[in-house]
Amino acid sequence: MARETLLLLALACLCIGLAAADWNILNPKWRFDAKQDPWKNYCESWRINVELNNIRDFEVVPQECVDHIKKYMTSSQYTADSERAIEEVTLYLSKCCTLKGDGKDAWIFDVDDTLISTIPYFKKHGFGGEKVNSSSFEAWMKDSKAPALDHTFKLFHQIKDKGIKIFLVSSRKETLRSPTVDNLIKVGYHGWSSLILRGLDDEYMHVEQYKSQARKKLVDQGYRIWGIVGDQWSSIKGLPEAKRTFKLPNSIYYLP
Ligand SMILES: *[C@@H]1O[C@H](CO)[C@@H](O)[C@H](O)[C@H]1NC(C)=O
Repeated sequence: MARETLLLLALACLCIGLAAADWNILNPKWRFDAKQDPWKNYCESWRINVELNNIRDFEVVPQECVDHIKKYMTSSQYTADSERAIEEVTLYLSKCCTLKGDGKDAWIFDVDDTLISTIPYFKKHGFGGEKVNSSSFEAWMKDSKAPALDHTFKLFHQIKDKGIKIFLVSSRKETLRSPTVDNLIKVGYHGWSSLILRGLDDEYMHVEQYKSQARKKLVDQGYRIWGIVGDQWSSIKGLPEAKRTFKLPNSIYYLP
């Protein structure tokens, strides 16, 4: 009996040892041993570090990771991650805010990849592996065919029904106002208080600065910004801050 236990223990140690070897960063094989997707660990680290805002200012997704990012952004995991973020918003809303009902309670949403999805565009344009061509991207936006993101859609209407004013602050250009409004209405969004787009002067600013200025104007008008939901760090960083911010996943492009 004792001998069998010892043998089992020895086997267990061996197994743990082998498993641990796989995690040894000095083991040159650690990246390449997965049969299905040899870059999986590397690309998943790249993706998570984009979400953590450690990797910034990338112009394109690394070539070896384009497939991985495409898989993620079209997966049920992306949906689950987004839904979880939205659940956290709902939880926050259930206890966060003593709404005054004076018309000055406000919430901010991004547009692209927050309310509506640009994935149909990127499916046809290299999925982040090519530098974004603004003229073809804008031509696609003019078609007003971006689908709604279901998880945010529900939240949008919940927030509106609470009597919180919704402000859409987008890095889209002012010239895209009418196709943007058409697109949002077509997929079921309505009742926002204002859609703020980038005018000519704003185009020379970084998105973070432009969006901060938009918040500053709202705060100066007496609005209390209870929260922001966006897919870019530049939508939630900078001053003045919202009381809370929620980041949705997006590793296809980066807006500084
Ligand atoms: C960008 O897209 C436009 C319109 O589709 C095209 O004419 C142009 O050549 C593209 N530019 C680059 C650099 O690929």
